[in-house]
Amino acid sequence: MKLRPLGDTGVRLSTLGLGALPFGTDLDEDGAAAMLDRCLDAGINHVDCADIYSGGRAETVLGQLLQNPGRRDRLVVSSKVSFPTGRGPNDGGSSRLHLTRAVDASLRRLQTDRIDVLYLHRFDARAALDDQLRALDDLVRAGKIVYPAASNFAAWQVAKALGRCELRGWARFAAIQPMYNLIKRQAEVELLPMAQSERLGVICYGPLAGGVLSGKYVGAEASGRFVEDPMYLARYRDLDAHAVAAGLVELARQSGHHPATLAVGWAAAQPGVTSMLIGGRSLEQLAPSLAAGEADLDDDLIRAIGALTPQPPPANDRNEERR
Ligand SMILES: NC(=O)c1ccc[n+]([C@@H]2O[C@H](COP(=O)([O-])OP(=O)(O)OC[C@H]3O[C@@H](n4cnc5c(N)ncnc54)[C@H](OP(=O)(O)O)[C@@H]3O)[C@@H](O)[C@H]2O)c1
Repeated sequence: MKLRPLGDTGVRLSTLGLGALPFGTDLDEDGAAAMLDRCLDAGINHVDCADIYSGGRAETVLGQLLQNPGRRDRLVVSSKVSFPTGRGPNDGGSSRLHLTRAVDASLRRLQTDRIDVLYLHRFDARAALDDQLRALDDLVRAGKIVYPAASNFAAWQVAKALGRCELRGWARFAAIQPMYNLIKRQAEVELLPMAQSERLGVICYGPLAGGVLSGKYVGAEASGRFVEDPMYLARYRDLDAHAVAAGLVELARQSGHHPATLAVGWAAAQPGVTSMLIGGRSLEQLAPSLAAGEADLDDDLIRAIGALTPQPPPANDRNEERR
């Protein structure tokens, strides 16, 4: 599998990364171990987790797997903090108080002494931005995290944070983690160009749009979070996801690839993307996404996949005359 630079850190990441979201729920320790082994064998060198996944069990399971000799240092391990992990008033957010506690709790569950990439899971407008960034810098200096990063931020929020860090001499975000797939292309408008300009790594999640781009719902009754989970129902409600999936299934039939391979491969091929996080409840589900790492889709096919959905409009007006 190809490697790409994580922004200007000097770190190199595989073009696919393993998402640990199902660890501790759909996948017990044996299942997660088999999935991680399969990914390592395929050349994946990073795994992504969060303190809220499976109520903390995802980090616990991943932490167990990291104890396997030699495994910790083969992997760039990321986690995320900020979403509420309890009912207390300070059990979430990006206050210095919560960040400090949350990172210690994640380190305990992961049974490691450092988190390689720590994302703020979402922007917290309640806590002063300088306080959040200074707390992250302290965590870097304490050796508890290697790189701070941001997930689900708008481009202006990332840019503002980068400016504050430069001014103060604090460790800057090394990466962003936006949602990005053939149906949700908003990242193309501001996030991806901003990340290229600022030399940030971009590790995207959700390449199958919660499963619909696997093609399993096309002409068939299937189960999965896309049709069962209210969060996904709300996220894709206004978009013609099933029609896009049908187009992808047709391209898959013509090209001899699985629709999931095309969806992941297309997203991974977009300018500015460092790596795509893939996931599944089972090895069988993961296989076609993993295949995107070696599929080498040609330019015509990448263009045909991209033509299934409109490019989002540019961020500013006065671009009409350039078309
Ligand atoms: N930063 C964030 O806020 C954020 C948010 C979400 C995820 N992430 C990260 O990104 C990783 C990947 O995200 P994601 O799980 O949302 O990715 P995704 O690729 O959009 O969705 C994966 C889901 O699609 C379905 N699926 C996958 N392959 C399939 C196949 N071959 N056939 C049928 N169904 C298939 C499965 O769900 P069903 O069986 O339910 O259909 C699977 O769990 C996560 O593990 C996590 O690390 C980050």
